[in-house]
Amino acid sequence: TVIPVILAGGKGERFWPVSRRQHPKQFLCLDGSGFSLLQSTANRLLPMAESWDSLWVITAAHLADGIREQLPDLPEQNLLIEPEGKDTAPAVAWATLEVAKRHGDGAIAGFFPADHWIADEAGYRETLKAAAALATERGAIATLGITPTFPSTGYGYIEQGDPLGTYGDCAAYTVARFTEKPDESTAEDFIASGRFSWNSGMFIFPAGVMLQELDTHAPQIMEPLRAQGVDAYAKLDKLSIDYAVMEKTDKACVMPVNFGWDDLGDWNAVERLLKTPETPNVEMAQHLGLDTTDSIVYASDEDEVIVTIGLEDVVVVRDGKATLVVHKSRTQDIKKAVKALGADP
Ligand code: GDD
Ligand code: MG
Repeated sequence: TVIPVILAGGKGERFWPVSRRQHPKQFLCLDGSGFSLLQSTANRLLPMAESWDSLWVITAAHLADGIREQLPDLPEQNLLIEPEGKDTAPAVAWATLEVAKRHGDGAIAGFFPADHWIADEAGYRETLKAAAALATERGAIATLGITPTFPSTGYGYIEQGDPLGTYGDCAAYTVARFTEKPDESTAEDFIASGRFSWNSGMFIFPAGVMLQELDTHAPQIMEPLRAQGVDAYAKLDKLSIDYAVMEKTDKACVMPVNFGWDDLGDWNAVERLLKTPETPNVEMAQHLGLDTTDSIVYASDEDEVIVTIGLEDVVVVRDGKATLVVHKSRTQDIKKAVKALGADP
């Protein structure tokens, strides 16, 4: 079995103003399901974990109460609280140390972002089983590769190496190269070559294998963590697991998958999920749109009325005392606005 660990300490600034410091993206319902992204992630993984006793969440201190509220069945001992977010390398390192302490170095851990959308959940779980078999048999860090559709600079790219046979219904390969967030022209070259997939951000491995790779490639994180546990956090630099380990390790394997995946990175991703041919706009608010098309309208308060006239390709978002109006082509720049507004806008 796999011990799933949900990575839930990130920010999601591109969803400001609905995403705030204390109430980040993973706490929001963005797919129309009625569940937050975090709750959907937990629901999806529960059948694999078999019970709440073997589902873990790692998050930053200021989000701990929000997690408890959203996942009331999560046992307190399975909630790992980082004093502050240091990106995913420290999170994976500390959580893997804790999983190994409780279940041994041979335990298979799976790390899952809290902010993804999956179309075929049953197919997804079958794939995870296959990835766990791959990780167990080869002592590998199994990654799941998504067929790229455009030269995104926001993802990691995995170059497929030698075939390793099939696991379940999935073909597996060694990883020839892992490149985190390349620039656009590199991404274009990768896609043109036909050998690359996007890194889905999910990793499945025997705990001992990841710990060894961290010891080798990220001693600046592992030495303090092994010596002091979570008390070492203040000393750690921010670093993601993709840069710390995945770009360097020779233990990675990849399974190209197609269960339908979206990293809900910004409002355009929400539109991809919710837009139907019948509706001119995506409306998550009481919206009166006159001559308004291909726009996204969201209000946190159900009573709020939003009127738009003569707009196309615009995102309008209301939350509390903040309003955002942004062109759909500029949603990446919301981060800049959040920065300009200062802490916890
Ligand atoms: N506990 C904890 N602490 N969780 C964190 C922290 C932290 O400091 N920072 C981020 N996370 C969580 C986020 O909440 C998210 O669920 C997950 O870790 C991934 O972090 P992101 O910040 O969303 O990563 P990314 O999207 O830029 O890139 C990763 O995911 C892509 C796919 O969505 C990489 O793995 C890429 O290679 C990958 O393509
Ligand atoms: Mg992400």
